Amino acid sequence: MQSEYREPGDRSADLPSVVAADLLGGPVPRHVACIMDGNGRWASRRGLPRTEGHSAGEAALLDAVEGALELGIPWITMYAFSTENWRRPADEVRYLMGFNESLLARRRDELNDKGVRIRFAGRRDWRVPKRVLRRMDESVALTAGNRRSTLTMAFNYGGRAEIVDAVRSLVADGVPAAKVDEKAIRSRLYYPDQPDPDLMIRTSGEERISNFLLWQLAYSELVFTEVLWPDFRRQHLFEAVREYQRRQRRYGGVA
Ligand code: FPP
Repeated sequence: MQSEYREPGDRSADLPSVVAADLLGGPVPRHVACIMDGNGRWASRRGLPRTEGHSAGEAALLDAVEGALELGIPWITMYAFSTENWRRPADEVRYLMGFNESLLARRRDELNDKGVRIRFAGRRDWRVPKRVLRRMDESVALTAGNRRSTLTMAFNYGGRAEIVDAVRSLVADGVPAAKVDEKAIRSRLYYPDQPDPDLMIRTSGEERISNFLLWQLAYSELVFTEVLWPDFRRQHLFEAVREYQRRQRRYGGVA
């Protein structure tokens, strides 16, 4: 039999064979959060600049969202730029700002047509260029009425910064120390309406949180995969959900 032609670097034959229908009989996470890691390594392995890896990550992001929609997952959070990522080389930071802006311009209509509400979690500080903020605001306004799923892009986001911001807001409102409890802090997080992630996936083989959703991940199931982000497809999401369905969540209690 003649083997099927594949482009160099095409990993499609390596995709896990699990499909959405296999998972719908079990618990499907309400909120999936993803650390999209490994773009730089994906590019380096091909002798390409790191920025090419980010660019290839766009297809992965869109396919993961498609997969989440197939499963009916109502909340998706993607880590797109951390408060620490300003430490990356200036060229890469500049590229990432422009890339996030152009990605929104390219994809917001498509996401809107699919019923996805776009939101951003993170600090709107002076380092984020005005035109990027403008594009973010336009995307939020365009999709504000959608409820099929909410895609939160964590951008200039840090979990510690979010907790600091929550505490500052309580202090600024004069909330007395005795009233500062978990409920009060949660109410001041960037999106108190959002349930905590049931499942957090990090690609590229790194097994750490890197300042992502520190408060919200307290009881999330964590799945780490070796797949580099640009190679990630909905089947990898399905595989992670299958793993999630094998886990037993106890929240500090007993089974
Ligand atoms: C955390 O690792 C990872 C992130 C903050 C994700 C960064 C993702 C991008 C820059 C690409 C975004 C891609 C698309 C398609 C929008 P870290 O490297 O900040 O932390 P570490 O140093 O602990 O590994």
